[in-house]
Amino acid sequence: MAKVVLRDLTKRFKEVIAVNNINLEIKEAEFLVLVGPSGCGKTTALRMIAGLEEASSGEIYIGDRVVNDVSPKDRDIAMVFQNYALYPHMTVYDNMSFGLRLKRLPANRPWPLNTRRAFTRHEIDQRVQSAAQLLGLGGLLNRKPKELSGGQRQRVALGRAIVREPKVFLMDEPLSNLDAKLRVQTRAELIKLHRRLGITTVYVTHDQVEAMTMGDRIAVMSSGLVQQVDTPLNLYNHPANIFVAGFIGSPAMNFVNVSIDQDNGKYIACADGFQVTLPASQYDHLPNYAGKQCIFGIRPEDIYDSNLEGLIKQGDGNSVKVDVDVVEPLGNDVEMYLKAGNVPLIAMIDSKTRARTGDTLDVLLDMDKSHLFDKDTEVAIY
Ligand SMILES: Nc1ncnc2c1ncn2[C@@H]1O[C@H](COP(=O)(O)OP(=O)(O)OP(=O)(O)O)[C@@H](O)[C@H]1O
Ligand SMILES: [Mg+2]
Repeated sequence: MAKVVLRDLTKRFKEVIAVNNINLEIKEAEFLVLVGPSGCGKTTALRMIAGLEEASSGEIYIGDRVVNDVSPKDRDIAMVFQNYALYPHMTVYDNMSFGLRLKRLPANRPWPLNTRRAFTRHEIDQRVQSAAQLLGLGGLLNRKPKELSGGQRQRVALGRAIVREPKVFLMDEPLSNLDAKLRVQTRAELIKLHRRLGITTVYVTHDQVEAMTMGDRIAVMSSGLVQQVDTPLNLYNHPANIFVAGFIGSPAMNFVNVSIDQDNGKYIACADGFQVTLPASQYDHLPNYAGKQCIFGIRPEDIYDSNLEGLIKQGDGNSVKVDVDVVEPLGNDVEMYLKAGNVPLIAMIDSKTRARTGDTLDVLLDMDKSHLFDKDTEVAIY
Protein backbone atom coordinates (compact mmCIF):
# COMPACT_ATOMS: atom_id res chain seq x y z
CA MET A 1 0.00 0.00 0.00
CA ALA A 2 1.19 3.46 -0.82
CA LYS A 3 -0.19 6.87 -1.54
CA VAL A 4 0.07 8.24 -5.06
CA VAL A 5 0.68 11.94 -5.60
CA LEU A 6 0.53 13.83 -8.88
CA ARG A 7 2.16 17.26 -8.84
CA ASP A 8 1.61 19.72 -11.69
CA LEU A 9 1.48 16.75 -14.03
CA THR A 10 1.24 17.54 -17.74
CA LYS A 11 1.34 15.45 -20.90
CA ARG A 12 1.56 16.97 -24.36
CA PHE A 13 1.30 15.05 -27.59
CA LYS A 14 2.60 17.69 -30.02
CA GLU A 15 -0.18 20.31 -30.03
CA VAL A 16 -2.63 18.24 -27.93
CA ILE A 17 -2.46 18.80 -24.16
CA ALA A 18 -3.89 15.48 -22.97
CA VAL A 19 -3.29 16.14 -19.25
CA ASN A 20 -3.01 19.75 -18.18
CA ASN A 21 -1.15 20.46 -14.96
CA ILE A 22 -3.16 18.22 -12.66
CA ASN A 23 -2.63 17.90 -8.91
CA LEU A 24 -4.05 14.91 -7.13
CA GLU A 25 -3.30 13.10 -3.90
CA ILE A 26 -4.57 9.54 -3.68
CA LYS A 27 -4.39 8.38 -0.08
CA GLU A 28 -3.01 5.08 1.10
CA ALA A 29 -5.64 2.32 0.64
CA GLU A 30 -8.04 4.73 -1.06
CA PHE A 31 -10.23 3.80 -4.04
CA LEU A 32 -10.11 6.87 -6.25
CA VAL A 33 -12.16 7.03 -9.46
CA LEU A 34 -11.04 9.17 -12.39
CA VAL A 35 -14.16 9.97 -14.40
CA GLY A 36 -14.83 12.18 -17.39
CA PRO A 37 -15.98 12.15 -21.01
CA SER A 38 -14.07 10.42 -23.80
CA GLY A 39 -10.77 12.10 -24.62
CA CYS A 40 -10.45 14.07 -21.35
CA GLY A 41 -7.09 12.48 -20.47
CA LYS A 42 -7.99 9.65 -18.05
CA THR A 43 -6.00 6.89 -19.75
CA THR A 44 -3.05 9.19 -20.33
CA ALA A 45 -2.97 10.11 -16.62
CA LEU A 46 -3.12 6.44 -15.63
CA ARG A 47 -0.42 5.46 -18.12
CA MET A 48 1.88 8.12 -16.69
CA ILE A 49 1.39 6.69 -13.19
CA ALA A 50 2.16 3.25 -14.61
CA GLY A 51 5.26 4.53 -16.37
CA LEU A 52 3.98 3.56 -19.82
CA GLU A 53 3.91 7.21 -20.86
CA GLU A 54 6.55 9.77 -19.97
CA ALA A 55 5.35 12.98 -18.28
CA SER A 56 6.03 16.19 -20.21
CA SER A 57 6.40 17.98 -16.88
CA GLY A 58 5.51 17.53 -13.22
CA GLU A 59 6.15 14.77 -10.72
CA ILE A 60 4.61 11.42 -9.85
CA TYR A 61 5.13 10.03 -6.37
CA ILE A 62 4.38 6.46 -5.31
CA GLY A 63 4.78 6.41 -1.55
CA ASP A 64 7.44 9.04 -0.79
CA ARG A 65 9.49 8.30 -3.88
CA VAL A 66 9.45 10.29 -7.13
CA VAL A 67 9.03 7.62 -9.80
CA ASN A 68 9.28 9.66 -13.01
CA ASP A 69 12.54 7.90 -13.90
CA VAL A 70 11.65 4.49 -12.46
CA SER A 71 10.81 1.83 -15.03
CA PRO A 72 7.24 0.42 -15.02
CA LYS A 73 8.29 -2.96 -13.66
CA ASP A 74 10.00 -1.37 -10.67
CA ARG A 75 7.08 0.87 -9.67
CA ASP A 76 5.29 -1.87 -7.74
CA ILE A 77 1.99 -1.30 -9.55
CA ALA A 78 -0.34 -3.67 -11.38
CA MET A 79 -2.54 -2.46 -14.20
CA VAL A 80 -5.79 -3.94 -15.49
CA PHE A 81 -6.76 -2.73 -18.94
CA GLN A 82 -10.06 -2.54 -20.75
CA ASN A 83 -8.75 -5.04 -23.28
CA TYR A 84 -7.01 -7.45 -20.98
CA ALA A 85 -5.39 -10.12 -23.13
CA LEU A 86 -5.18 -13.59 -21.61
CA TYR A 87 -2.86 -16.12 -23.22
CA PRO A 88 -5.32 -18.39 -25.07
CA HIS A 89 -3.11 -21.50 -24.98
CA MET A 90 -2.48 -21.28 -21.22
CA THR A 91 -4.71 -22.46 -18.41
CA VAL A 92 -6.21 -20.03 -15.89
CA TYR A 93 -3.53 -21.11 -13.41
CA ASP A 94 -0.70 -20.41 -15.85
CA ASN A 95 -2.23 -17.11 -16.93
CA MET A 96 -2.36 -16.00 -13.32
CA SER A 97 1.11 -17.20 -12.36
CA PHE A 98 2.87 -16.13 -15.56
CA GLY A 99 4.13 -12.76 -14.30
CA LEU A 100 5.45 -14.28 -11.08
CA ARG A 101 7.24 -17.07 -12.91
CA LEU A 102 9.00 -14.52 -15.12
CA LYS A 103 10.08 -12.23 -12.35
CA ARG A 104 13.77 -12.58 -11.69
CA LEU A 105 16.20 -10.87 -9.34
CA PRO A 106 19.88 -10.17 -9.96
CA ALA A 107 22.07 -12.79 -8.28
CA ASN A 108 25.51 -11.22 -8.65
CA ARG A 109 26.77 -13.89 -11.00
CA PRO A 110 28.16 -13.52 -14.53
CA TRP A 111 25.73 -13.70 -17.43
CA PRO A 112 23.82 -15.98 -18.23
CA LEU A 113 23.62 -16.92 -14.56
CA ASN A 114 23.14 -13.38 -13.30
CA THR A 115 19.51 -13.69 -12.28
CA ARG A 116 17.49 -15.96 -10.03
CA ARG A 117 13.79 -16.57 -9.72
CA ALA A 118 12.07 -14.08 -7.42
CA PHE A 119 9.47 -16.60 -6.22
CA THR A 120 9.62 -20.29 -5.43
CA ARG A 121 7.09 -22.65 -6.95
CA HIS A 122 5.49 -22.95 -3.52
CA GLU A 123 5.12 -19.18 -3.09
CA ILE A 124 3.61 -18.84 -6.54
CA ASP A 125 1.15 -21.63 -5.82
CA GLN A 126 0.06 -20.03 -2.56
CA ARG A 127 -0.56 -16.67 -4.19
CA VAL A 128 -2.49 -18.13 -7.14
CA GLN A 129 -4.64 -20.33 -4.90
CA SER A 130 -5.51 -17.49 -2.56
CA ALA A 131 -6.31 -15.08 -5.41
CA ALA A 132 -8.41 -17.78 -7.11
CA GLN A 133 -10.36 -18.32 -3.91
CA LEU A 134 -10.90 -14.60 -3.46
CA LEU A 135 -12.24 -14.30 -7.01
CA GLY A 136 -14.29 -17.49 -7.07
CA LEU A 137 -12.04 -19.07 -9.67
CA GLY A 138 -11.04 -22.06 -7.55
CA GLY A 139 -12.72 -24.68 -9.72
CA LEU A 140 -11.59 -23.17 -13.01
CA LEU A 141 -7.81 -23.17 -12.69
CA ASN A 142 -7.28 -25.87 -15.31
CA ARG A 143 -9.53 -24.33 -17.94
CA LYS A 144 -8.38 -22.36 -20.96
CA PRO A 145 -9.73 -18.81 -21.49
CA LYS A 146 -12.05 -19.90 -24.31
CA GLU A 147 -13.83 -22.20 -21.84
CA LEU A 148 -14.75 -19.25 -19.60
CA SER A 149 -17.52 -16.66 -19.62
CA GLY A 150 -16.67 -13.00 -20.15
CA GLY A 151 -17.00 -12.28 -16.45
CA GLN A 152 -14.77 -15.18 -15.48
CA ARG A 153 -12.12 -14.04 -17.95
CA GLN A 154 -12.31 -10.58 -16.49
CA ARG A 155 -11.68 -12.06 -13.05
CA VAL A 156 -8.66 -13.98 -14.32
CA ALA A 157 -7.23 -10.68 -15.59
CA LEU A 158 -7.83 -9.23 -12.12
CA GLY A 159 -6.30 -12.31 -10.52
CA ARG A 160 -3.18 -11.86 -12.60
CA ALA A 161 -2.86 -8.37 -11.13
CA ILE A 162 -3.68 -9.46 -7.57
CA VAL A 163 -1.04 -12.22 -7.36
CA ARG A 164 1.63 -9.60 -7.83
CA GLU A 165 0.54 -8.01 -4.51
CA PRO A 166 1.31 -4.53 -5.80
CA LYS A 167 1.36 -1.33 -3.78
CA VAL A 168 -1.05 0.27 -6.26
CA PHE A 169 -3.74 -1.02 -8.63
CA LEU A 170 -4.38 0.94 -11.81
CA MET A 171 -7.57 -0.02 -13.63
CA ASP A 172 -8.65 1.42 -16.96
CA GLU A 173 -12.34 0.71 -17.64
CA PRO A 174 -11.88 -2.93 -16.62
CA LEU A 175 -15.61 -3.70 -16.77
CA SER A 176 -16.52 -2.16 -20.09
CA ASN A 177 -16.47 -5.48 -21.95
CA LEU A 178 -19.12 -7.00 -19.72
CA ASP A 179 -22.87 -6.95 -20.24
CA ALA A 180 -24.93 -4.74 -17.93
CA LYS A 181 -25.83 -7.37 -15.35
CA LEU A 182 -22.35 -8.83 -15.09
CA ARG A 183 -20.92 -5.34 -14.84
CA VAL A 184 -23.04 -4.61 -11.77
CA GLN A 185 -21.99 -7.92 -10.19
CA THR A 186 -18.30 -7.51 -10.93
CA ARG A 187 -18.46 -3.93 -9.72
CA ALA A 188 -19.70 -5.18 -6.34
CA GLU A 189 -16.99 -7.86 -6.29
CA LEU A 190 -14.31 -5.29 -6.98
CA ILE A 191 -15.51 -3.13 -4.10
CA LYS A 192 -15.47 -6.12 -1.74
CA LEU A 193 -12.04 -7.06 -2.97
CA HIS A 194 -10.75 -3.58 -2.31
CA ARG A 195 -12.14 -3.65 1.22
CA ARG A 196 -10.42 -6.94 1.83
CA LEU A 197 -7.02 -6.16 0.33
CA GLY A 198 -6.92 -2.41 1.03
CA ILE A 199 -4.66 -1.75 -1.95
CA THR A 200 -4.54 1.85 -3.17
CA THR A 201 -6.54 1.90 -6.41
CA VAL A 202 -6.96 4.38 -9.23
CA TYR A 203 -9.95 3.35 -11.33
CA VAL A 204 -10.77 4.98 -14.65
CA THR A 205 -14.28 5.07 -16.09
CA HIS A 206 -16.42 7.36 -18.22
CA ASP A 207 -19.54 6.01 -16.49
CA GLN A 208 -20.72 8.33 -13.74
CA VAL A 209 -22.90 5.65 -12.15
CA GLU A 210 -19.86 3.40 -11.80
CA ALA A 211 -17.92 6.32 -10.35
CA MET A 212 -20.65 7.16 -7.82
CA THR A 213 -21.06 3.59 -6.60
CA MET A 214 -17.38 2.62 -6.42
CA GLY A 215 -15.29 5.60 -5.43
CA ASP A 216 -14.21 6.60 -1.92
CA ARG A 217 -13.53 9.82 -3.77
CA ILE A 218 -14.02 10.85 -7.38
CA ALA A 219 -11.86 13.12 -9.51
CA VAL A 220 -13.93 14.58 -12.34
CA MET A 221 -11.85 15.45 -15.41
CA SER A 222 -12.61 17.36 -18.58
CA SER A 223 -10.26 18.62 -21.29
CA GLY A 224 -7.17 17.47 -19.43
CA LEU A 225 -8.11 19.33 -16.24
CA VAL A 226 -9.28 18.02 -12.88
CA GLN A 227 -12.51 19.90 -12.28
CA GLN A 228 -13.29 18.70 -8.75
CA VAL A 229 -12.18 15.98 -6.34
CA ASP A 230 -14.54 14.93 -3.57
CA THR A 231 -16.69 12.15 -2.14
CA PRO A 232 -19.58 11.00 -4.37
CA LEU A 233 -22.19 12.71 -2.17
CA ASN A 234 -20.35 16.00 -1.98
CA LEU A 235 -19.94 16.05 -5.76
CA TYR A 236 -23.64 15.40 -6.16
CA ASN A 237 -24.77 17.92 -3.54
CA HIS A 238 -22.14 20.61 -4.05
CA PRO A 239 -20.81 20.56 -7.60
CA ALA A 240 -18.11 23.20 -7.99
CA ASN A 241 -19.09 24.23 -11.51
CA ILE A 242 -21.51 23.64 -14.37
CA PHE A 243 -19.43 20.85 -15.88
CA VAL A 244 -19.48 18.73 -12.71
CA ALA A 245 -23.14 19.58 -12.04
CA GLY A 246 -24.11 18.37 -15.51
CA PHE A 247 -21.85 15.32 -15.53
CA ILE A 248 -22.77 13.80 -12.16
CA GLY A 249 -26.39 12.66 -11.91
CA SER A 250 -28.75 11.02 -14.37
CA PRO A 251 -30.93 12.41 -15.88
CA ALA A 252 -28.68 15.46 -15.79
CA MET A 253 -29.39 18.62 -13.79
CA ASN A 254 -31.69 21.17 -15.47
CA PHE A 255 -30.02 24.48 -16.25
CA VAL A 256 -32.03 27.66 -16.77
CA ASN A 257 -30.64 31.01 -17.96
CA VAL A 258 -32.09 33.48 -15.48
CA SER A 259 -31.76 37.09 -14.43
CA ILE A 260 -31.50 37.76 -10.70
CA ASP A 261 -33.93 40.45 -9.48
CA GLN A 262 -34.44 41.88 -6.03
CA ASP A 263 -37.97 42.32 -4.75
CA ASN A 264 -38.92 43.25 -1.18
CA GLY A 265 -35.62 41.97 0.15
CA LYS A 266 -35.96 38.71 -1.73
CA TYR A 267 -33.87 37.43 -4.60
CA ILE A 268 -35.88 36.14 -7.55
CA ALA A 269 -34.57 34.13 -10.52
CA CYS A 270 -36.56 34.88 -13.67
CA ALA A 271 -36.77 33.59 -17.20
CA ASP A 272 -39.57 33.76 -19.77
CA GLY A 273 -42.38 31.78 -18.08
CA PHE A 274 -40.20 30.71 -15.14
CA GLN A 275 -39.87 32.47 -11.80
CA VAL A 276 -38.62 31.19 -8.44
CA THR A 277 -37.49 32.78 -5.18
CA LEU A 278 -33.95 31.83 -4.22
CA PRO A 279 -33.50 30.32 -0.74
CA ALA A 280 -32.93 32.88 2.03
CA SER A 281 -30.09 30.76 3.41
CA GLN A 282 -28.03 31.71 0.33
CA TYR A 283 -28.64 35.49 0.33
CA ASP A 284 -25.11 36.17 1.60
CA HIS A 285 -23.75 35.02 -1.75
CA LEU A 286 -26.13 37.03 -3.91
CA PRO A 287 -25.68 40.84 -3.58
CA ASN A 288 -23.08 40.98 -6.37
CA TYR A 289 -25.42 39.22 -8.75
CA ALA A 290 -28.54 41.41 -8.42
CA GLY A 291 -29.59 42.57 -11.89
CA LYS A 292 -27.20 40.11 -13.56
CA GLN A 293 -27.59 36.98 -15.66
CA CYS A 294 -26.86 33.64 -13.96
CA ILE A 295 -27.52 29.98 -14.53
CA PHE A 296 -30.00 28.33 -12.20
CA GLY A 297 -29.75 24.55 -11.64
CA ILE A 298 -32.26 22.05 -10.31
CA ARG A 299 -32.02 18.25 -10.48
CA PRO A 300 -34.95 16.30 -11.98
CA GLU A 301 -35.46 14.47 -8.67
CA ASP A 302 -35.92 17.79 -6.83
CA ILE A 303 -39.05 18.71 -8.82
CA TYR A 304 -42.42 17.51 -7.42
CA ASP A 305 -46.04 17.31 -8.52
CA SER A 306 -47.91 19.79 -6.27
CA ASN A 307 -51.02 17.56 -6.29
CA LEU A 308 -49.24 14.78 -4.41
CA GLU A 309 -49.72 15.30 -0.68
CA GLY A 310 -46.88 15.25 1.78
CA LEU A 311 -43.91 14.99 -0.59
CA ILE A 312 -42.94 18.65 -0.40
CA LYS A 313 -44.66 21.85 0.77
CA GLN A 314 -45.50 24.81 -1.34
CA GLY A 315 -43.16 27.43 0.04
CA ASP A 316 -41.65 30.76 -0.72
CA GLY A 317 -42.10 31.15 -4.50
CA ASN A 318 -41.15 27.58 -5.36
CA SER A 319 -44.20 26.80 -7.54
CA VAL A 320 -43.89 26.82 -11.32
CA LYS A 321 -46.66 26.30 -13.88
CA VAL A 322 -45.64 23.87 -16.62
CA ASP A 323 -47.02 22.11 -19.67
CA VAL A 324 -46.47 18.37 -19.71
CA ASP A 325 -44.83 17.41 -23.03
CA VAL A 326 -43.88 13.75 -22.58
CA VAL A 327 -44.50 11.23 -19.79
CA GLU A 328 -42.27 8.15 -19.52
CA PRO A 329 -43.11 5.69 -16.72
CA LEU A 330 -39.98 4.04 -15.28
CA GLY A 331 -41.56 2.05 -12.43
CA ASN A 332 -41.05 3.94 -9.17
CA ASP A 333 -40.81 7.25 -10.92
CA VAL A 334 -42.12 8.92 -14.01
CA GLU A 335 -39.73 10.88 -16.16
CA MET A 336 -41.49 13.99 -17.45
CA TYR A 337 -40.47 16.47 -20.08
CA LEU A 338 -41.97 19.78 -19.05
CA LYS A 339 -42.09 23.31 -20.43
CA ALA A 340 -42.33 26.35 -18.19
CA GLY A 341 -43.04 28.96 -20.87
CA ASN A 342 -40.03 28.46 -23.12
CA VAL A 343 -37.93 26.78 -20.46
CA PRO A 344 -37.60 23.01 -20.87
CA LEU A 345 -37.31 20.98 -17.66
CA ILE A 346 -36.91 17.28 -17.02
CA ALA A 347 -38.50 15.99 -13.82
CA MET A 348 -38.53 12.64 -12.01
CA ILE A 349 -42.00 12.58 -10.48
CA ASP A 350 -43.45 10.00 -8.12
CA SER A 351 -45.43 7.43 -10.09
CA LYS A 352 -48.62 8.30 -8.17
CA THR A 353 -48.91 11.39 -10.33
CA ARG A 354 -52.04 11.73 -12.46
CA ALA A 355 -50.44 14.15 -14.89
CA ARG A 356 -50.59 13.14 -18.55
CA THR A 357 -49.18 14.47 -21.79
CA GLY A 358 -50.88 17.75 -22.70
CA ASP A 359 -51.85 18.64 -19.11
CA THR A 360 -50.97 21.84 -17.33
CA LEU A 361 -49.43 21.20 -13.93
CA ASP A 362 -48.06 23.12 -10.96
CA VAL A 363 -44.70 21.68 -9.95
CA LEU A 364 -42.84 22.50 -6.73
CA LEU A 365 -39.08 22.94 -6.71
CA ASP A 366 -37.11 21.94 -3.62
CA MET A 367 -35.24 25.23 -3.52
CA ASP A 368 -32.88 24.12 -0.74
CA LYS A 369 -31.48 21.67 -3.30
CA SER A 370 -31.21 24.28 -6.04
CA HIS A 371 -27.92 25.62 -7.45
CA LEU A 372 -26.80 28.89 -8.97
CA PHE A 373 -23.79 29.38 -11.25
CA ASP A 374 -21.89 32.41 -12.51
CA LYS A 375 -22.64 32.78 -16.19
CA ASP A 376 -19.12 33.84 -17.21
CA THR A 377 -16.93 31.59 -15.08
CA GLU A 378 -19.49 28.74 -14.79
CA VAL A 379 -18.38 28.41 -11.14
CA ALA A 380 -21.00 27.64 -8.47
CA ILE A 381 -22.27 30.69 -6.55
CA TYR A 382 -24.00 28.31 -4.14
N1 LIG B 1 -0.27 8.64 -28.37
C1 LIG B 1 -1.02 9.74 -28.58
N2 LIG B 1 -0.67 10.64 -29.54
C2 LIG B 1 -1.40 11.76 -29.74
N3 LIG B 1 -2.51 12.08 -29.04
C3 LIG B 1 -2.90 11.24 -28.08
C4 LIG B 1 -2.19 10.01 -27.80
N4 LIG B 1 -2.83 9.38 -26.78
C5 LIG B 1 -3.88 10.15 -26.47
N5 LIG B 1 -3.94 11.26 -27.23
C6 LIG B 1 -4.93 12.34 -27.14
O1 LIG B 1 -4.96 12.81 -25.81
C7 LIG B 1 -6.27 13.08 -25.38
C8 LIG B 1 -6.60 12.25 -24.14
O2 LIG B 1 -6.66 10.88 -24.49
P1 LIG B 1 -6.97 9.74 -23.42
O3 LIG B 1 -6.79 8.43 -24.11
O4 LIG B 1 -6.16 9.98 -22.20
O5 LIG B 1 -8.50 10.00 -23.12
P2 LIG B 1 -9.52 9.16 -22.21
O6 LIG B 1 -10.05 10.14 -21.21
O7 LIG B 1 -8.88 7.94 -21.71
O8 LIG B 1 -10.69 8.83 -23.25
P3 LIG B 1 -11.61 7.48 -23.41
O9 LIG B 1 -12.71 7.59 -22.37
O10 LIG B 1 -12.14 7.62 -24.79
O11 LIG B 1 -10.72 6.30 -23.22
C9 LIG B 1 -7.15 12.80 -26.56
O12 LIG B 1 -7.40 14.01 -27.23
C10 LIG B 1 -6.33 11.87 -27.41
O13 LIG B 1 -6.66 11.99 -28.76
MG1 LIG C 1 -9.25 5.87 -22.03
